[in-house]
Amino acid sequence: MLWFEVDLPATQQDKRSRLDRLGIGSGHLRFVAADFTVDPVAGLLVSTGLDPGRPSLFLLEGVAVYLEEAVLRSLLAQLRRIAAHGSRLAISLSVNSASPERAARRAAFQAAVAAVGEPARSVVEAADAGTLLESTGWRPAGEPGTGSKAAHAGFIVAEPADVPPA
Ligand SMILES: C[S@@+](CC[C@H](N)C(=O)[O-])C[C@H]1O[C@@H](n2cnc3c(N)ncnc32)[C@H](O)[C@@H]1O
Repeated sequence: MLWFEVDLPATQQDKRSRLDRLGIGSGHLRFVAADFTVDPVAGLLVSTGLDPGRPSLFLLEGVAVYLEEAVLRSLLAQLRRIAAHGSRLAISLSVNSASPERAARRAAFQAAVAAVGEPARSVVEAADAGTLLESTGWRPAGEPGTGSKAAHAGFIVAEPADVPPA
């Protein structure tokens, strides 16, 4: 099985240096240095060896929150175009909540990441997560543990919708 690791060039270089320094093998990984705001990520993944004819798992954990909504939409639509039938998208979103406790936790998180120079750039209303998926060619996969509760907690598993985005 092949794994593709996608990150900003400088961050990825730092990750690779750490792996080397610690002697952790990465022969099973393909590294794709890309900035989602400008780079054609789907094309880069394919040219690095991802087979768009076979199912893939796309994992975006703790990434969407750092992207403007338009960048996130473009990224999801690109991934959909290389997602064969049977693929899955697992994505965590920063979901708005009426709960004061969760709102306080989110505000603390936003202050902390802004302080280290990587501000949160998007928050998706729980009710809008479906629209975000639909407009980018995905739909909730409806697998156990991935229903509305998981979406409320900000984690969604989706599958390719029948019609890819335009
Ligand atoms: C909280 S970390 C999540 C890390 C991820 N779950 C992992 O295990 O590597 C957020 C990641 O998003 C990356 N990121 C933020 N903006 C990006 C962009 N425009 N293009 C590509 N990656 C980006 C950051 O460099 C960082 O590695």
